Amino acid sequence: MTAVFSTSSPEETRDLGRLLGSRLFAGAVVALRGELGTGKTVLVQGISAGLGFDGYVSSPSFVVVNEYDGRLPIYHVDLYRMEGPDSVEGLGYRELFWSRGVALIEWAERAGGLLPDDRLDVAVESRDRTRRVFEFRAKGERHERALQGLRETWSGTEGRCSS
Ligand SMILES: Nc1ncnc2c1ncn2[C@@H]1O[C@H](COP(=O)(O)OP(=O)(O)O)[C@@H](O)[C@H]1O
Ligand SMILES: [Mg+2]
Repeated sequence: MTAVFSTSSPEETRDLGRLLGSRLFAGAVVALRGELGTGKTVLVQGISAGLGFDGYVSSPSFVVVNEYDGRLPIYHVDLYRMEGPDSVEGLGYRELFWSRGVALIEWAERAGGLLPDDRLDVAVESRDRTRRVFEFRAKGERHERALQGLRETWSGTEGRCSS
């Protein structure tokens, strides 16, 4: 299932993330792609808030993984500095990607085939200074249900769905 959403401010992106976060579940994997500065971390801030974490979410570029306590453990992973799956293997990725918490992974493409098949892919594109387009693709029943719920509750600029 896919759905496309667009936002026109960081606040709106946080709102979108919050709605998604409130629907995520133990074992959820959100795999984010998109150029630097498109809004992956801003979306993660919203998702974490929607999961009940009220602290500050920064970009984990240097430490690779940040852990936050929401209603589920949140693993915020940034693979920007990873050259590819070989370096990701050294991270203990199994505990992160197949966890009892939620994995939010920026630069997920660097993990290649190490990502679980069941996941929510999010491709982010920047259209101008403040307009961002988020294309979601859900695989697996629980991720599909979460995306379906997001689509039904989002009242932002755009939302369409195809299966
Ligand atoms: N609609 C929007 N959604 C998200 N961020 C936006 C939006 N419009 C402008 N921005 C700005 O774009 C930047 C996104 O930064 P960040 O989330 O760190 O990007 P990434 O993690 O993809 O590198 C921030 O400076 C933010 O204020
Ligand atoms: Mg980032």
